[in-house]
Amino acid sequence: MTQEKEVGTKDALVKALTEKKARIGIVGMGYVGLPLALRYAAMGYRVFGLDIDREKVAALNEGRSYIEHIGPQLVKNACERGFTATDDFSLAAEADALIICVPTPLNRYREPDLSFVTGTMDSLVPFLRPGQVVSLESTTYPGTTEEELKPRMESSGFVVGKDVFLCFSPEREDPGNPEFVTSTIPKICGGQTPACLEVGLALYQQVIDKVVPVSSTRVAEMTKLLENIHRSVNIGLVNEMKIICDRMDIDVHEVIRAAATKPFGFVPYWPGPGLGGHCIPIDPFYLTWKAREYGLHTRFIELAGEINHAMPNWVVSKLADALNERGRAVKGSRVLVLGIAYKKNVDDVRESPSVEIMELLVARGAIVEYSDPHVPTFPRMREHHFDLRSVDLSAEAIQSYDALLLATNHDSFDYPVIKQHARLIVDSRGVFLERSANVVKA
Ligand SMILES: NC(=O)c1ccc[n+]([C@@H]2O[C@H](COP(=O)([O-])OP(=O)(O)OC[C@H]3O[C@@H](n4cnc5c(N)ncnc54)[C@H](O)[C@@H]3O)[C@@H](O)[C@H]2O)c1
Repeated sequence: MTQEKEVGTKDALVKALTEKKARIGIVGMGYVGLPLALRYAAMGYRVFGLDIDREKVAALNEGRSYIEHIGPQLVKNACERGFTATDDFSLAAEADALIICVPTPLNRYREPDLSFVTGTMDSLVPFLRPGQVVSLESTTYPGTTEEELKPRMESSGFVVGKDVFLCFSPEREDPGNPEFVTSTIPKICGGQTPACLEVGLALYQQVIDKVVPVSSTRVAEMTKLLENIHRSVNIGLVNEMKIICDRMDIDVHEVIRAAATKPFGFVPYWPGPGLGGHCIPIDPFYLTWKAREYGLHTRFIELAGEINHAMPNWVVSKLADALNERGRAVKGSRVLVLGIAYKKNVDDVRESPSVEIMELLVARGAIVEYSDPHVPTFPRMREHHFDLRSVDLSAEAIQSYDALLLATNHDSFDYPVIKQHARLIVDSRGVFLERSANVVKA
């Protein structure tokens, strides 16, 4: 390629992105990819979504949403503006920008499973053409974009930074938080080369209010991990404080609320029944794995992981003690778990500690049911199965259980009614502030 052509390729792409004439393909129509696709569509771009899940593709093309906090009207609006979904990767050739939002889980050895990311890239490579940008949004260890995606993109003879462009721009979605939408969450962007960064900024600046450039894809990857590790470590700290406070008969939630009145130098984190969701229990271990390559141990991460991982068992032992004090064994007791989503006001059960708690209780012989207004039927999960439907919380139903275990503090639970009728509540979220004969904090 001549120098003029190289410049032309990049400049033409930047122009098309800035003028919203570019076509955007988003790969992975999940919690991250779908809102982003809708945002691009709302801002007037031509957008398509690529996903291997045909049910999701069909739903989107019918104007339906499968994510509770994304209303169907938003999908319908996007469809009216020309948004379509497909499982046909050849459409990638028509995109100017391809944004990858596929899962990055851990494998059974708790090591990074990059197969979704690398598999996606392998599917895209045959359709790459000069003048395209690929941006990875999936959370991953520093070096992934450079070591895994760049060689794949260059395998067809293109040069990244000249013919094609490559960025890493981590997602910062906070599902269920009404204070932020995709556009109002500042977005980090790192480019594989300075030209890649220029293209990346043009890609995001039209749809996100504030895009924060960083010097490399590795910095962008590490930034996302720091954000999530910061949460995991601080949650580990308050979970440890919870155990200490419990032994000392001090209410840890009262302590945190009091500490949070300090106007500087303290950020409140809240203890709970364990970590959940696709990010906090998983992402730190991407760094742990990569650090080993450098002969380093991630001691804070592993310690926090150990403490957080022990929480479901700790909560179950608090329940067992509380039942014991009432002359009952766990075995044969009827226990209702309140909330199986991993956090309040969402319908996402991935890695939810509630599910582990349900399994621990069943293993001890309890008869377990759940109530979660956001999850009417226990969903299909890879490693867990309960043939259950959410129980309606009538006074009669509440009274019928030996214990209610509050695992997820959804706003829609009627806490006064629960408190009035429950024989025993084991509260792992600090919802019930007052000491009370039927409430045990866990
Ligand atoms: N959910 C969050 O709140 C959140 C926040 C920040 C970052 N992230 C990160 O974003 C990434 C995506 O997370 P998510 O929550 O959107 O996951 P998700 O499971 O909701 O969605 C991923 C989608 O990718 C699809 N997919 C899988 N393999 C594919 C392939 N080869 N080609 C096309 N589509 C494929 C799946 O069918 C699914 O629809 C992860 O790396 C996650 O860590 C998630």
